[in-house]
Amino acid sequence: FLHKLVLGIETSCDDTAAAVVDETGNVLGEAIHSQTEVHLKTGGIIPPVAQQLHRENIQRIVQEALSASGTSPSELSAIATTIKPGLALSLGVGLSFSLQLVEQLKKPFIPIHHMEAHALTIRLTNKVEFPFLVLLISGGHCLLAVVRGVADFLLLGKSLDIAPGDMLDKVARRLSLIRHPECSTMSGGKAIEHLALQGNRFHFDIKPPMQRAKNCDFSFSGLQHIIDKIIMQKEKEEGIEKGQMLTSAADIAAAVQHTTACHIAKRTHRAILFCKQKDLLSQSNATLVVSGGVASNLYVRRALEIVTEATQCTLLCPPPRLCTDNGIMIAWNGIERLRAGLGILHNTEGIRYEPK
Ligand code: KG4
Ligand code: ZN
Repeated sequence: FLHKLVLGIETSCDDTAAAVVDETGNVLGEAIHSQTEVHLKTGGIIPPVAQQLHRENIQRIVQEALSASGTSPSELSAIATTIKPGLALSLGVGLSFSLQLVEQLKKPFIPIHHMEAHALTIRLTNKVEFPFLVLLISGGHCLLAVVRGVADFLLLGKSLDIAPGDMLDKVARRLSLIRHPECSTMSGGKAIEHLALQGNRFHFDIKPPMQRAKNCDFSFSGLQHIIDKIIMQKEKEEGIEKGQMLTSAADIAAAVQHTTACHIAKRTHRAILFCKQKDLLSQSNATLVVSGGVASNLYVRRALEIVTEATQCTLLCPPPRLCTDNGIMIAWNGIERLRAGLGILHNTEGIRYEPK
């Protein structure tokens, strides 16, 4: 008995990732190449650099995932690849490579929406039925949506400016956490979480953003500016140069983490209440799924636990390695779409990808 097998390819941002997953959710093979270290050095992602690194690694990564799976390419049921949203130059590398492979192997192609893949990942690890509420919080995205089906999302709220991970990355850079011996190889968000353990969150009193907004939207750029001002003030007080570590860095990290967690928890609370009022979730087992890189933050998770306990919702998070970008979620989204018979292309002739 042969299961359906999907090869998933992801290059939307700064990870070149691939995986082979079968119909039952078995991960047969996976490979990933992260560009984080390079981008940490340049203080952010430079799209042409990301594109070049994807180009250098994609062949090897896809090959590694296929070899590890022990399947021959001819056994694949389809190839699934992220086509949006993301950096155009990065997406282009994965798409061009996939289209060549599709042509060569004569396989169906399944275009994947990166956020749909993040949202559906939980169904690979847990038995979760539609509908459920999803909170996606990462470096590039911030949204709350009701997932009613594989390709059926009701958007409840999104960030009006930047995503929480982006804000945490900027604050971490401003605090020069890369020079901190314990944090030098961590992403900005992880470095803030690490340093916050040694800080006092009450040292700075910062109000969560959008307290009066009667919707489920988010905002993080105002918070970033407040933190920027505090850092400038402290640099003056401590008489240090830009780029040196502040003695109050841990307190600032604790305060920004606390305010971020409060804001995310409050907006999510509103979304849950809205869903209950409009009967958008299961009455007997309302579920909140949290994913994206920021979901691996334990302080944010604790805040969300408090909200779900108070509203009698079940809180679920995919394991950390599935919360951040990976090929498994793309392959799994391909399986979900195959099973639902949605968006499977047998002819890719019309698809062109020509990044500017
Ligand atoms: O999902 P992801 O790998 O990529 C996308 O943005 O799609 O998320 C990466 C983001 C980065 O901004 C990183 O700083 C943040 O997630 N992040 C964290 C933590 N680990 C990663 N933020 C807070 N706490 C963490 N432990
Ligand atoms: Zn992502």
